[in-house]
Amino acid sequence: MPQILELIEDDHDLIRVLFDEIEHDPDSRDVRCITLHRELLAHLLAEEATLYPRLREAAPEEVEVALDEHVTIRERLERFKVVSEGDEAWMEALDDLRDWVEAHFAQEEGDIFARARHYLSRSDLFALGEAFEKEKVTVA
Ligand SMILES: [Fe+2]
Repeated sequence: MPQILELIEDDHDLIRVLFDEIEHDPDSRDVRCITLHRELLAHLLAEEATLYPRLREAAPEEVEVALDEHVTIRERLERFKVVSEGDEAWMEALDDLRDWVEAHFAQEEGDIFARARHYLSRSDLFALGEAFEKEKVTVA
Protein backbone atom coordinates (compact mmCIF):
# COMPACT_ATOMS: atom_id res chain seq x y z
CA MET A 1 0.00 0.00 0.00
CA PRO A 2 1.54 3.35 -1.02
CA GLN A 3 1.69 6.24 1.38
CA ILE A 4 -1.06 8.85 1.25
CA LEU A 5 0.85 11.59 -0.58
CA GLU A 6 1.51 9.24 -3.50
CA LEU A 7 -2.17 8.31 -3.63
CA ILE A 8 -3.22 11.95 -3.59
CA GLU A 9 -0.77 12.75 -6.37
CA ASP A 10 -2.08 9.81 -8.44
CA ASP A 11 -5.61 11.18 -8.05
CA HIS A 12 -4.44 14.65 -9.07
CA ASP A 13 -2.80 13.22 -12.20
CA LEU A 14 -5.92 11.23 -13.09
CA ILE A 15 -8.13 14.30 -12.67
CA ARG A 16 -5.76 16.43 -14.80
CA VAL A 17 -5.96 13.81 -17.56
CA LEU A 18 -9.76 13.79 -17.32
CA PHE A 19 -9.84 17.57 -17.79
CA ASP A 20 -7.58 17.24 -20.86
CA GLU A 21 -9.80 14.52 -22.33
CA ILE A 22 -12.98 16.51 -21.66
CA GLU A 23 -11.47 19.56 -23.34
CA HIS A 24 -10.13 17.75 -26.38
CA ASP A 25 -12.52 14.89 -27.09
CA PRO A 26 -16.15 16.03 -27.51
CA ASP A 27 -17.31 12.46 -28.26
CA SER A 28 -16.44 11.10 -24.83
CA ARG A 29 -17.39 14.20 -22.84
CA ASP A 30 -20.57 12.87 -21.26
CA VAL A 31 -18.99 9.83 -19.71
CA ARG A 32 -15.77 11.66 -18.73
CA CYS A 33 -17.77 14.38 -16.97
CA ILE A 34 -19.53 11.73 -14.90
CA THR A 35 -16.15 10.19 -14.04
CA LEU A 36 -14.68 13.60 -13.19
CA HIS A 37 -17.58 14.39 -10.89
CA ARG A 38 -17.30 11.06 -9.08
CA GLU A 39 -13.48 11.09 -8.82
CA LEU A 40 -13.22 14.68 -7.68
CA LEU A 41 -15.86 14.36 -4.96
CA ALA A 42 -14.46 11.05 -3.69
CA HIS A 43 -10.99 12.59 -3.63
CA LEU A 44 -12.07 15.65 -1.62
CA LEU A 45 -14.04 13.55 0.85
CA ALA A 46 -11.21 11.08 1.36
CA GLU A 47 -8.75 13.92 2.08
CA GLU A 48 -11.22 15.50 4.49
CA ALA A 49 -11.56 12.21 6.35
CA THR A 50 -7.86 11.36 6.54
CA LEU A 51 -5.04 13.82 5.85
CA TYR A 52 -6.67 17.09 6.95
CA PRO A 53 -7.84 16.03 10.42
CA ARG A 54 -4.33 14.71 11.09
CA LEU A 55 -2.64 17.92 9.95
CA ARG A 56 -5.09 20.35 11.52
CA GLU A 57 -3.24 20.73 14.80
CA ALA A 58 0.20 21.13 13.25
CA ALA A 59 -0.80 23.45 10.39
CA PRO A 60 -4.21 24.99 11.22
CA GLU A 61 -4.00 27.90 8.78
CA GLU A 62 -2.92 25.83 5.80
CA VAL A 63 -5.62 23.25 6.53
CA GLU A 64 -8.29 25.92 6.78
CA VAL A 65 -7.28 27.44 3.43
CA ALA A 66 -7.28 24.02 1.78
CA LEU A 67 -10.71 23.14 3.18
CA ASP A 68 -12.11 26.50 2.04
CA GLU A 69 -10.81 25.66 -1.43
CA HIS A 70 -12.65 22.33 -1.24
CA VAL A 71 -15.87 24.28 -0.61
CA THR A 72 -15.21 26.50 -3.64
CA ILE A 73 -14.37 23.51 -5.84
CA ARG A 74 -17.64 21.82 -4.89
CA GLU A 75 -19.54 25.02 -5.77
CA ARG A 76 -17.78 25.31 -9.14
CA LEU A 77 -18.40 21.65 -9.84
CA GLU A 78 -22.13 22.08 -9.15
CA ARG A 79 -22.19 25.17 -11.38
CA PHE A 80 -20.44 23.26 -14.16
CA LYS A 81 -22.85 20.35 -13.81
CA VAL A 82 -25.96 22.40 -14.49
CA VAL A 83 -24.66 24.07 -17.69
CA SER A 84 -25.51 22.00 -20.76
CA GLU A 85 -22.74 21.09 -23.15
CA GLY A 86 -24.18 23.00 -26.11
CA ASP A 87 -24.30 26.17 -24.06
CA GLU A 88 -21.76 28.96 -24.64
CA ALA A 89 -21.07 29.08 -20.93
CA TRP A 90 -20.07 25.42 -20.82
CA MET A 91 -16.37 25.86 -21.71
CA GLU A 92 -16.18 28.86 -19.43
CA ALA A 93 -17.58 26.87 -16.51
CA LEU A 94 -15.17 24.02 -17.28
CA ASP A 95 -12.19 26.42 -17.39
CA ASP A 96 -13.27 28.03 -14.17
CA LEU A 97 -13.56 24.68 -12.40
CA ARG A 98 -10.21 23.56 -13.80
CA ASP A 99 -8.48 26.77 -12.69
CA TRP A 100 -9.65 26.28 -9.12
CA VAL A 101 -8.78 22.60 -9.10
CA GLU A 102 -5.30 23.13 -10.60
CA ALA A 103 -4.47 25.94 -8.16
CA HIS A 104 -5.62 23.80 -5.25
CA PHE A 105 -3.63 20.76 -6.40
CA ALA A 106 -0.49 22.89 -6.78
CA GLN A 107 -0.99 24.26 -3.29
CA GLU A 108 -1.39 20.75 -1.86
CA GLU A 109 1.57 19.29 -3.73
CA GLY A 110 3.71 22.18 -2.45
CA ASP A 111 2.78 23.53 0.94
CA ILE A 112 0.52 20.80 2.29
CA PHE A 113 2.80 17.93 1.24
CA ALA A 114 5.77 19.73 2.83
CA ARG A 115 3.84 20.09 6.10
CA ALA A 116 2.73 16.48 5.99
CA ARG A 117 6.30 15.23 5.41
CA HIS A 118 7.52 17.41 8.23
CA TYR A 119 4.88 16.64 10.85
CA LEU A 120 3.83 13.08 10.08
CA SER A 121 5.97 10.00 10.44
CA ARG A 122 6.58 7.51 7.67
CA SER A 123 4.29 4.99 9.34
CA ASP A 124 1.59 7.67 9.74
CA LEU A 125 1.79 8.40 6.02
CA PHE A 126 1.39 4.71 5.18
CA ALA A 127 -1.48 4.22 7.67
CA LEU A 128 -3.19 7.30 6.21
CA GLY A 129 -2.70 5.83 2.74
CA GLU A 130 -4.66 2.77 3.77
CA ALA A 131 -7.39 4.90 5.34
CA PHE A 132 -7.53 7.11 2.21
CA GLU A 133 -8.08 4.08 -0.05
CA LYS A 134 -10.81 2.75 2.24
CA GLU A 135 -12.60 6.10 2.27
CA LYS A 136 -12.55 6.28 -1.49
CA VAL A 137 -14.08 2.82 -1.78
CA THR A 138 -16.78 3.78 0.74
CA VAL A 139 -17.83 6.97 -1.04
CA ALA A 140 -17.47 5.73 -4.64
FE1 LIG B 1 -7.60 18.76 -1.67
